[in-house]
Amino acid sequence: MKHLIANWKMKLSPLDEIELALKVGKINFDPNKVKISLNPSFLSLIRIGEIVKKTSVELGAQDCFWEDKGAFTGEISPQYLRDICCQNVIIGHSERRAYLGESDTMINKKIRTIIDCGLTPVLCVGESAEQRHSGSRDHIVRRQVELGLHNINIVGYQKLLIAYEPIWAIGTGQPANISDIIYMHQVIYQTLIDLFPKSIVQNNTFVLYGGSVDSSNAGSFLREELIDGVLIGGASLIIDEFAKIIQIADSL
Ligand code: PGA
Repeated sequence: MKHLIANWKMKLSPLDEIELALKVGKINFDPNKVKISLNPSFLSLIRIGEIVKKTSVELGAQDCFWEDKGAFTGEISPQYLRDICCQNVIIGHSERRAYLGESDTMINKKIRTIIDCGLTPVLCVGESAEQRHSGSRDHIVRRQVELGLHNINIVGYQKLLIAYEPIWAIGTGQPANISDIIYMHQVIYQTLIDLFPKSIVQNNTFVLYGGSVDSSNAGSFLREELIDGVLIGGASLIIDEFAKIIQIADSL
């Protein structure tokens, strides 16, 4: 099973998001082989939830708060997201870490609340170009996973997705090379094995790659057994591109 998560960021108006979701809803794929999630802005979640309800496409959010309810002006609770049929939430995207000051402690609290609600967290981790060149990449990514998942318990059918997204590869047209991605997936899996029972890591956790994924390179990532899927930004906004990536995943 390969996961394709479409992170639409703040790149389309809600009306354009709805139009795009209608087109995605018409694409044929085998839900036993491919799991697609659309993660639009908060504003179009309800409407897109209705659109994908009759399809195998999942609905996801791009962020949430770490409390279920209360005096938290401007925030959205994972419980409310669940009420409108969201199934997963992207957490700790590097853009939020950079522009919104999202810390590992905040990310950890969010993941806890998401799991308490029965939703799937999609934890984003990844190093900057500077960190990569200074040789601290492994340490940085390992720490992000450890701190994000500190004291988190995963049981039963609870799923956890981790997206390895090197910051320098996001939106640049220059994805990481396959051997680096495989190596970092191994680092992440080793960290997960240090945190959770082996059977949980095997059955409940999935590691994805993100950063300039498009139809020309998606196949090389998705063919790797260790890569459970891809998080797609820019290419998921172009229907032909996204349809090609879905087709690639479906044909594996
Ligand atoms: P990109 O974005 O595919 O446009 O590089 C990926 C992401 O930020 O999740």
